Amino acid sequence: MQQQICTILNRADVGAELVVSGWVRTRRDSGGFSFLELTDGSCLTGLQIIADQELANYVTEIKKLTTGCSVEISGQLQDSPAKGQAVELVASAVRVLGWADPETYPLQKKRHSFEFLRNLSHLRPRTNALAAVARVRGRLALAVNHFFAERGFIQVHTPIITTSDCEGAGEMFQVTTAGGQSDQSDGQGQHEFFGRRAGLTVSGQLQAEVYAQALGRVYTFGPTFRAENSNTSRHLAEFWMIEPEMAFCDLACNMALAEDLLRYLLADVLEHCGPDLQMFDRFIDKGLIARLQQVVDQDFARITYTEAVDQLLAADRLFEFPVSWGIDLQSEHERYLCEDVYGRPLIVTNYPAAIKPFYMRMNEDGRTVAAMDILVPGIGEIVGGSQREERLEPLLARMEEAGLDSEEYGWYLDLRRYGTAPHAGFGLGFERLVQYVTGMQNIREVIPFPRTPGFAPC
Ligand code: 4AD
Ligand code: MG
Repeated sequence: MQQQICTILNRADVGAELVVSGWVRTRRDSGGFSFLELTDGSCLTGLQIIADQELANYVTEIKKLTTGCSVEISGQLQDSPAKGQAVELVASAVRVLGWADPETYPLQKKRHSFEFLRNLSHLRPRTNALAAVARVRGRLALAVNHFFAERGFIQVHTPIITTSDCEGAGEMFQVTTAGGQSDQSDGQGQHEFFGRRAGLTVSGQLQAEVYAQALGRVYTFGPTFRAENSNTSRHLAEFWMIEPEMAFCDLACNMALAEDLLRYLLADVLEHCGPDLQMFDRFIDKGLIARLQQVVDQDFARITYTEAVDQLLAADRLFEFPVSWGIDLQSEHERYLCEDVYGRPLIVTNYPAAIKPFYMRMNEDGRTVAAMDILVPGIGEIVGGSQREERLEPLLARMEEAGLDSEEYGWYLDLRRYGTAPHAGFGLGFERLVQYVTGMQNIREVIPFPRTPGFAPC
């Protein structure tokens, strides 16, 4: 395989004869030469190519190259006399692989808005910002796997099609082969492929719990789906989630793992994605790198839900959603707490049972559960998790309150009947993490092909 531009720039192996392929970012002609900036997506920086007018196809092809054309270039790497790059490739041959008609190619050199680019999901990764997001996202996925492997966790692949609504929020997309007809029955009729109502998973947690009760430490990292009609900059209908689940672990151990994970991931991208982060810091979110470094260096703040409500009630500020004990914290509340009060990530614990799903462990007070959310500046909730209810009777009571049919969850209840063990876990929203790390304003820019209400172009 040919060397990638990132490798060539790192090695700066002056004098080497190389072949490199990529897309033309710009062409400039001067003094009998053409200067091409070539990019292949391997890093932010392009490679400067010098093409002499003596080349056989100089007039017929090289001088017609425009933004977006793909080329293969042979040449020798040399020290660059010009400012802006250490090395450049002096071409001995330029082979055009694919033209890009400048009359119709939509990505011109000027800056395009992210809204405009969203309608070009097939071309937008060729822009600097979206390519950098893709590299950082890929690095984060790798770091997630490293983190868990280093701590003895086994990756488990939980199903995408499921028959249980983990969060109990009724936000599942239904899966059927029967088109509209299935609605004629009760949704469980003969048309149903699975013989019962099935949907796209909203979380792999319940199945991860099964494996945690056998393997101890597991995690799942996959796509999840929510049919919630939220058109915000932080919600997607399809998003990826990292969900560790640990047997013999309580809320404190769960919080420690989540904090470790976040700080590890930030440290990892600071180390491995320097140039991309510098670009985000410069053009997208000033001060980003210093803020990420601060998170790596500092412990997260921790308060209970009840303390959070007290802080909100004492706040010198009018919230759109009024505050009282028992409310679900809104984004404005979460952001006030972690941005204005603490100025760093904040773990909020022990929420009212009434606003949390059935599987969370009831506390001794009988009205709060062993839940934890991690809130971060700029985003709000990035992690949601809890210790799980491992006792059969309290779990049955919670399921009944939530209107869940205990017959359907027989397998989940069996885990409490046979060798039940304290266990805990959490879900880290992968796109919210990528948003946090890149400073991108809208979550639609940090997933390659966003799906939101009314939007799924390709
Ligand atoms: O708080 P949530 O709903 O928790 C669960 O699904 C648990 N079953 C996780 C677990 O304990 N294993 O979602 C977890 C995280 C949120 O904190 C948020 O970061 C992200 O998933 N998230 C979304 N991200 C993008 N778009 C949406 N619509 C999201 N909904 C949740
Ligand atoms: Mg949540």
